[in-house]
Amino acid sequence: MPSSSPAFQFTRSALADSTAELAIFGVLQHPTSDEILKDTWLDGLESLSPGATEILAQEKFDGSRDKVILLRNPKGTSGPARIIVTGLGRAARLRPAGLTTALKAAFDRAFGVRDVSTVALALPELELAADSVILAAVDATHDAGYASREAKKPGRSVAKVDLLVKGGIEEKPQALKESIAIATARAAARDLTNMPPNVKRTSTLSERAQGLAGLANVSVDVISDPEWIQKNMPCFYTVAMGSLVTDPPKFIRVHYKPANAKKRIILVGKSVIFDTGGYQVKTDDYMNTMKADMTGGSMVLAAIEAFAKLEIQGIELAAYLAATPNMIDAYAMLPDSIVDTTCGKKVEIRHTDAEGRLTLIDAVAKACEESPDLIITIATLTGSAARAVGEAIALMGNNDPLRDRLRDAAKLAGDPVQTLDIWDEDFEDIKSKLDGADIINTSQNKNRGAQSACAFVMSGLTREIPLLHLDIAGADMTKDEKATGIGIKAVLKFLIAESQLI
Ligand code: BES
Ligand code: MN
Ligand code: MN
Repeated sequence: MPSSSPAFQFTRSALADSTAELAIFGVLQHPTSDEILKDTWLDGLESLSPGATEILAQEKFDGSRDKVILLRNPKGTSGPARIIVTGLGRAARLRPAGLTTALKAAFDRAFGVRDVSTVALALPELELAADSVILAAVDATHDAGYASREAKKPGRSVAKVDLLVKGGIEEKPQALKESIAIATARAAARDLTNMPPNVKRTSTLSERAQGLAGLANVSVDVISDPEWIQKNMPCFYTVAMGSLVTDPPKFIRVHYKPANAKKRIILVGKSVIFDTGGYQVKTDDYMNTMKADMTGGSMVLAAIEAFAKLEIQGIELAAYLAATPNMIDAYAMLPDSIVDTTCGKKVEIRHTDAEGRLTLIDAVAKACEESPDLIITIATLTGSAARAVGEAIALMGNNDPLRDRLRDAAKLAGDPVQTLDIWDEDFEDIKSKLDGADIINTSQNKNRGAQSACAFVMSGLTREIPLLHLDIAGADMTKDEKATGIGIKAVLKFLIAESQLI
């Protein structure tokens, strides 16, 4: 069942004059003691619901993050009849990611209250950028209401969310518009990833891509000819050999090209439809969740859709997907094979389960043919990334200023990110010892697997082009195996910020 989402609007009216049935009221924790911060902001709650502060104290509500409490506003007084007070923790420690979680907890609770069509959101002054606060509010609302297409119940929502222009919320219509596009893109990416593998094919991604062709300045190109792929992207083709009949490969490219674009950026999303591991097959439950191995692809499609709908100027954006499952039949790739690549290097396939980089190395080389200013690869690439950074994006690259800008955008967007450095040793690590091969698709130094996989992907560069690499294997799925949509906020925030630098 699809999710629904509310209409957002800024309102300058005071909370006491709000016609919303329910208010979400954020409170901070005292900087040093375990109680709520009693400042002039709290007076707003008191005047709306006299005695509220006393009740919070009785309930031992300490304002720590993610704690929510539902108060009833006595009948006869004006303003929302119900108030969800939500703890934001200490101001100095609050980051956009934390604010998003706190607000999600509040909206989760709000959506459970009956007969509410409008929610008013009131936030105290925060030490955060105004745009971050708006994105946190919008994303938390969408996230709380999200339901996958497979869900038995529809997503929850309300008709309207009023953002009270006071305290921490500034009236920034463009930021609101962008935030809605970003949160919508995140849900779209999650939808594709959440689809079960028995109904997911390379054509699922190409059809989704074709669906974008109607947008202004967008063109879509899908190459399904296996002979073309074999000749032009032989390493990608090698992964596809095990499923040529059952789910043939597709090289999908979507271009958004506004008039007078000054920069060209190409997003490459790992699009392994299902990763069985190949002949070095994944054992037991390691194969579970591998329907999500196309998360990079679902992300780049959602990103370009948002970018085009927002009609961002100055940047020409492309999404590349080399889509195939990693499967086994009599033609499937064998370990110790030596195969060609688009960039000309010869690859020793040491492990059939290190297939993602085999698809990406050729997609990166194809991207180089367009001489972009930047390539961003997004991939559920290595278990090592999960071990290195936990449930965060492992961000790597060959250009520190750009990497830092993407990291900063991720922080503002509330996407957890940690950077890893690529060393010369990582390129040494992937040198093949076989006579006939240049590089090998596994790491020999087992403890730098995320970095050496990135070095492998970078080996596809045929000219000096900045490349940023997001390994999202640690965070693409929740513990209960649902798509998180991690990274889409970071990437879109970054791209929008880059367009403003032009
Ligand atoms: N798709 C997996 C990586 C992965 C693992 C994503 C767990 C999400 C959760 C990738 O294709 C893979 O199998 N990587 C191997 C590489 C190894 C064989 C060199 C890995 O990380 O174990
Ligand atoms: Mn694999
Ligand atoms: Mn994989």
